This record gives sequence, structure tokens and C-alpha cells, in this order.
Amino acid sequence: MLKRTANCGQLRLSDTGKRVIVAGWVRSYRDHGGLVFFDLRDREGITQLVFNPEKFPEAHQQAQAIRSEWVVAAEGVVEPRGQGLENPKLATGQIEVLVEKIEILNSAKTPPFEIDTAEKTGEEVRLAHRYIDLRRQAMQEKLKIRHRATKIARDYLDSLGFWEIETPMLAKSTPEGARDFLVPSRLMPGTFYALPQSPQLFKQILMISGVDKYFQIVRCFRDEDPRADRQAEFTQIDVEMSFVDANDVIGVHEVLVAKIFNEILGLNIKTPMRRMTYREAMDSYGADRPDLRFDMKLRDVSDIAANSTFKVFTGAIQSGGIVKGLCAPDGGNKYSRNDIEKTLTAFAGDYGAKGLAWFKAKNENGKVTMASTLSKFFSPEQLENMANRFGAKDGDLVLLVAGDEKGVNKVLAPLRCRVARDLKLYDEGKFEFVWVVDFPLFEWNDDEKRFESMHHPFTAAVPEDVPKLDTDPGHIIAQAYDIVVNGSEIGGGSVRIHRPEIQTKVFDLLKITREQAQARFGFFLKALEHGAPPHGGIALGMDRMVMLLTGTDNIRDVIAFPKTQRGQCLLTDAPSEVDTKQLDELNLRVQKHSHEIEGKKQD
Ligand code: AMO
Repeated sequence: MLKRTANCGQLRLSDTGKRVIVAGWVRSYRDHGGLVFFDLRDREGITQLVFNPEKFPEAHQQAQAIRSEWVVAAEGVVEPRGQGLENPKLATGQIEVLVEKIEILNSAKTPPFEIDTAEKTGEEVRLAHRYIDLRRQAMQEKLKIRHRATKIARDYLDSLGFWEIETPMLAKSTPEGARDFLVPSRLMPGTFYALPQSPQLFKQILMISGVDKYFQIVRCFRDEDPRADRQAEFTQIDVEMSFVDANDVIGVHEVLVAKIFNEILGLNIKTPMRRMTYREAMDSYGADRPDLRFDMKLRDVSDIAANSTFKVFTGAIQSGGIVKGLCAPDGGNKYSRNDIEKTLTAFAGDYGAKGLAWFKAKNENGKVTMASTLSKFFSPEQLENMANRFGAKDGDLVLLVAGDEKGVNKVLAPLRCRVARDLKLYDEGKFEFVWVVDFPLFEWNDDEKRFESMHHPFTAAVPEDVPKLDTDPGHIIAQAYDIVVNGSEIGGGSVRIHRPEIQTKVFDLLKITREQAQARFGFFLKALEHGAPPHGGIALGMDRMVMLLTGTDNIRDVIAFPKTQRGQCLLTDAPSEVDTKQLDELNLRVQKHSHEIEGKKQD
């Protein structure tokens, strides 16, 4: 067998005259009146092979039979390409290899889609033939970037004295707000492991064990519906540190994130990164993960709207709601009435808005006022105040939503991003990092009439708010932090509760009964009683970070073998039915009927 001496991305003009053996997949075959050309591809690049019937008739003869995606090795001499035949788009575009000997290592079926134009092929076909899809240079680049990001994280954390420690996959569940994947136990019939939603409690226990600095690049499992940036099975850079405060954890990880973006994209990301309170993020951007590549802050105009005669606004305010909106620069010129009343209104409706009020800013006699079919409900002064509140200029478009604060923010946050994208208010290649801090510890769940943890139940309050656990739990600030890039939450963590009596109090507030707490977290509460050091940590979402690094908005692009929207692996056909024998061993019986009905419903 011909043994490779060079890869397909490495040969240059300076290698002219060298005898080499290259190996890879045949990308294209061109017969140019006697001379036959191949592009040979491997993960490093593409090298042109040329077969000359006069000089090397045997190799030329063999080449005739070869087709796309066959695997070959070729021996020959590096030559400069003829004048005008160079390909400046390829790193190897100035040379070719004149083949003297070729060995067919394997033939291949005609691929189900053309690799070079794979983007045009439906994703399902590509996922089913992932091995072919992954051969594409764009995909190989993503795999490589992911590898590099992982390696940078590992090396950096190691250099700071962190130890990489594995925690169980067959575990008891830690709540991270999702449904668990369960694994039945054969040895203890009727009992189940849960695949970890995160290693949260194990890493805290490692702190109690004296490990001091832990990390793990770890798979987490959450049985929730996949989304563009969410998979049921995803990877975290998971970290925990002892004897630290929030600033220590933030400090270590902003340097790590900046390092990854710097080493992979060559960007100079400044540290310390910007910080913003949760309150400011919600008020000005409507979400706890603000996209700061553009400004377009949200403004509350409830005070002005309250004095109008527009019933939708006054009604919302009377029932405790607000009127809030945004001002799209030049949006009055760029959006037609139809765009606003159909497209944008429907978009807002998808996020729960009952309507979308709009005003076009107009300059009249040196003053900016607002024109709208709703103008009649407002005095000229109110319209002017509204324009001033937004700093609106002639041609701008003000969009307003009325309702309860939570609902209004839910509409305005995505609307703000949508408008910014439509109006091209930002540079796609820019990255804006921010730490969102000062989250409330709890959120009130009105349906269940109880508090819920904003992060998870192991998050500590800021010390001055600890007494409020007894008096005013709704107004406690947590020692929690999220790192957000361009509107994507790429990580989150907190300082933890390390005192058992406070942890118990938090469970009480969450209406987790003592019995439930004991059954679910008894092991952890017990560990807390054996000398837990103050500790804190974070988890960075590796998949989301790699999405940003590779410029994709599809999480499946950065995972070698991802799942579809229905949680299926189209390559292996998981999940699939299992033998009755396997079920018997596990003491399980499947109610086939309901499974089939469920499948039909989704089709
Ligand atoms: P959290 O649940 O915020 O925290 O997760 C941390 C980060 O992981 C990423 N992430 C996901 N990525 C892809 N698909 C998903 N389904 C998914 N869910 C989360 C996000 C997120 O910011 N144990 C805590 C961390 C801690 O407190 O130390 C935790 O898991 O980028």
C-alpha cells in the first residue's frame, strides 16, 4: 500500500520537484482532452492530481475508472501549475501532483448528495449520512474549532491548578429545570437512575471533599424540546472553586472566554468584561440575555400613556400593567404600513402580544412629533413627550406594547432583535460580552402559588439579604451571574449555599417538603453537615460557544452526531424499540399503543 507522506493541504510552490504520496477522497474528475485532473480531499485541504497519458499511461488508464468519493493514494512529483491555471482560492492552488502511480484503496457508492453543494440538501438527508456531511470542509472546520476550544479550556484550567474529575452519568437527578432522562436499573427492579442534567451536586460535594478546584468537560442531559440553540444532550465546561466569591469565578472565566475567542478568532476581547444588573437588562432590553451589538433600548411610557384616551393603554395600566416600546431608527421609512401591521404585528403576536401600536416620528416646524392612526387619543404634548422619551428623530418608528410587565418584555425582547436584524443595525462579525449580575434569588410562580429558584436551589443570597429569607424572599438578590454574548447565554453560575440550615430554609421556601428534600437531596444535605467550605462555580455552554465561534445559528452544526427536533439520531435511528427480552430483564412493559398514538399526533 502506498503510504502517505504529505496531506492534501500542505504542498506549496516551494515543494516543487518533491516526490510525495498523498491520500484522500476524490472530489472531482475532469478530463481535459487527454489530461485527467482530480481534486483529492482530506481534512487538511485539497490537492490537484494530474494524470498524463503520455508520461504515465498506466496511472492514466487506472484513473479513468475512478469516481467521486473513492478513496485513493497517489504517488508523484509536485509541479507548478501552468501559467494562468493557478487557483488563488486554494492554499495549494499553485501546485499539482503529476501522478506516476495510483492505488485505489476503496470504491464508494454515488453519494446521496453533492458534497460541495450540501448546504442546498435538506438537513435530514445530511444527518442520515452524517459521515458524508462531515467530510465537507466547513464541517471539518467546525469540528476542529470545537476541539481547539476544548483544548484551550483544558490547558488553561489545568494551568490554574484545576483538576479534571469525572462524575457519574448514571446518577440521581439534580434539578436544572428540565425533565430527566431515566435509565432503569436491572439489579434493583423498579428503580431508575437519571442521566445528569448537570454535575451540580457532585461538584459541590467535591468541594466538601477538599478538591478545591474542579473542572470537567461534561455531557449533560435534559429531556426538553430541542431548539436552534438547545439539544437534549449537550456539553458544559463545568467548574467549581472553594474559598471564593463571585468576582473570583467571574475573573477566571472571563479570561478563559476571552482567550478562546482570541486564540480562535484573533479577536482582542477586553477584560474585565462589562457587567449589567438583571434589573437594567430587563428594563432596557426586556431579557436577561441582552444583545448589546446594537443600542435601541426599550423605554417605559406608561406615565404618558396613562393620560391618553386610548383604552387599550389606559386599561392595561389600570390593571397593573405597563406600556413599553422601542424606537427603530429610520424604521418609519424602511418599514411599509403593511410590514408593520402584518409582519411585525404577527411576529409580536407569536410572542403573545394582543396588538402592536405604532407611531412614525415626524419633524414638524423643528419639533418632533408622532404620526399614527392612534394620534387622536393623545395630546400634541403627549406625542412630543413620547418622541422625546425615545429620542426619536424624523423617520424613526416607535413600536409600543401594552400588558403586564413580564408579557410585554417577552414580546419586546425578540421584537427588538428582529427589528435590528431587519434594519441591519449591527455588524454580524462583532461580539459583545456582558455579565448579567444581581439576579433575584426567587421568582414567584403565580400558577403554583410558590417561589421558584431563578437559577437553581443551591444558589446563595448576597450576605446582606440572607435575613430576608424569613421576611421578604421576593426581594433577595442572588450571588448569581450569567455570561451573555450577542444575546446568547453562554454560561451561568453562582456562589453556593454552604450552610445546611440555609439550604433547608431555601427548600422550605420552594415548598419542597422535608420528606421530599430528604428523598431527593438527603445525601447532599448530609454532606453539607460535614464541613462544607464556601464555594462557587459556573458552567459554560460549550455548544453555544462553538456556535458563536463558527458563526452558525444551528446547534446541530457544532455537534458531530446531533439529534433532530424530535430527539432522533437519523444516522443510527435512535431512539428505537428494544427486544422484549431486554424489557423483561428490566422488568419493564411498554404500552405500545400510547407510543404509537403519540407518534401519529406529531406527524
Ligand atoms: P445552566 O443550566 O445555566 O447551569 O447551564 C449552563 C450553560 O449551559 C448551556 N446550556 C445548554 N446548551 C445547549 N443545550 C441545552 N439544552 C442547554 N442548557 C444549558 C447554556 C447555559 O448557560 N449547574 C449549573 C451551572 C452552575 O451553577 O455551576 C447549570 O447547569 O450556555
